[in-house]
Order: sequence, then structure tokens, then C-alpha cells
Amino acid sequence: MNEKIKQDFPIEWEDDHFVTRREFFKFMTLASGGLAVGTAALAAYAKLPKDERVFEAAMICKVDDVKIGSALAFSYPRPNDLCLLVRKQDGNFAGYARRCTHLSCPVEYEVRNERELLYCPCHNGAFSVEDGSVVQGPPPHPLPQIKLEIRGNEVWALGIIKEKHS
Ligand code: FES
Repeated sequence: MNEKIKQDFPIEWEDDHFVTRREFFKFMTLASGGLAVGTAALAAYAKLPKDERVFEAAMICKVDDVKIGSALAFSYPRPNDLCLLVRKQDGNFAGYARRCTHLSCPVEYEVRNERELLYCPCHNGAFSVEDGSVVQGPPPHPLPQIKLEIRGNEVWALGIIKEKHS
């Protein structure tokens, strides 16, 4: 009806430029709906499972071959895929791809200020030994993690776990 009146009486008013209460609420409803959809999409993305790739299981070493607080270099799954097996100070094992996610320098296991790290000397990058996440420097992504299993007195690699984006 409003449009019909405007057609019949095509006179510009100053009031034509004001936003009506109905238009304002319509805009606010659409904006908050869009925000809710965006938030739900982000939450769903955050819960995406990590990309876990299974490869042929391979024995890395005997449990006693790696002393607590030290590391052992190995290759998995191909001979040129450099990895590092760490025996953390709590006695548990963790395995990571050894190439830094910045420019591929090999990372080293180090304890600095009583904190266990996978340190990259090229540009002072460092990763958490707990989950491979970046804790300092320019690396853009976490280190891919090697899925491990202890079988008796042996440490085995079973696959590679990566963040979805890396
Ligand atoms: S290559 Fe590791 S921080 Fe640059």
C-alpha cells in the first residue's frame, strides 16, 4: 500500500530516507541470523577430526633403546620421511615428522627452561612435544604427529595424524 501511494503521489519527502522500525528490526534479524550461522560453521570446523592416515605398521625401536629425556631419529613411512621419536621426561613416547613446517629444517628435541620442545634452529621456531603445536617462531602449522603403539618391548609407528588444514 505504501508503494501504491508513492506511485500515485510521487513526491519526495525528507521522511522517505528514515528507516522504519520494521525495516530496522528486519535488518537486525537478518544480521543476527547471519552471525549465528557463521558461528555455528566455525564451531563445526573446529570439531573436524584430524586427518589420520594409516600406513603399514613399522617397528621403530625397542623401548629401552631411547632413554627418558632423549630422542631417536627414524624414517616413516618412506625412507626419506624424516621423523623424531621422543621419550618425554614422564617416560611416555611421542613421534613427529621432523621437517619444520616453515622451511623444512630438521627439528631437535630440547629441554629449555624445564620445558620440552621440538626446536628448529633455522629461524628459532619451536613446537610442543605434547601435541606438535607451534609455540614460537614462524612455523605456520603444527608438526604432523606419528601415531605410535607400544607392543611389548617395541615401539611401532602406525600412521600419521595431521591437522585438517596442513
Ligand atoms: S625452518 Fe624452522 S623456523 Fe624456519
